[in-house]
Amino acid sequence: MEGRSRSPEEVEQRLRQIVQVLKCDVTLENPFHPLPMEPADCITCSLCLEEACEDEEEYDRAVGSIAALLKPGGSLVLTDILNQSCGIMGEQTFGCLALTQSQVEETLKGHGFSIKEFDTQPATEFEKKYIDGDPFFYLVAQKTE
Ligand SMILES: C[S@@+](CC[C@H](N)C(=O)[O-])C[C@H]1O[C@@H](n2cnc3c(N)ncnc32)[C@H](O)[C@@H]1O
Repeated sequence: MEGRSRSPEEVEQRLRQIVQVLKCDVTLENPFHPLPMEPADCITCSLCLEEACEDEEEYDRAVGSIAALLKPGGSLVLTDILNQSCGIMGEQTFGCLALTQSQVEETLKGHGFSIKEFDTQPATEFEKKYIDGDPFFYLVAQKTE
C-alpha cells in the first residue's frame, strides 16, 4: 500500500517519529520476553499471525498473548489472508496456517474481543502469483474484558 497515497518524504518523516523498535515473537506468552510491557491502547499485526503459527492451538495462544498486551477497551487491527497455506517471498516459500473467517472471529471472541469491522478484498491476479490464499482481510476488534 505504501507509495499509493504518501510521498517518500512523508513516509520517511513518519518513520523517523518511531521511538523504539523491539523484537517480538507472537508464539511466546510475553511476545516481548524478557521485557515487561505496559498494556497498550492499540495493537496492529499485519500478515504475521497465520504465518507464525503452526496450528490452531498455537494461533489461539498467540491471540491470547496479544490480548494480554491490550488495555480493556483497546483495539486490535489485524490484516491477513484467509485460506492461505503457503506464500512466496523472494526465493523462499513459507507455510501458513489456513483459517476461515469464522475461525478467526471465534478465536478472537474466545479471548474477549468484539469484532467491530471485518472487511475482505479479493487477491489480485498479481498477488495470486505469490500466495495461495484468498481473500485478504482487515479487521478491527475491541477488547471488551
Ligand atoms: C509475510 S511477512 C509480513 C511482513 C509485514 N508485517 C507486512 O505486513 O508486510 C511475515 C512476517 O511475520 C514475521 N514473523 C514470523 N514469525 C513470527 C513470530 N513468531 N513472531 C512475530 N513475527 C513473526 C516475519 O518476521 C515476517 O516479517
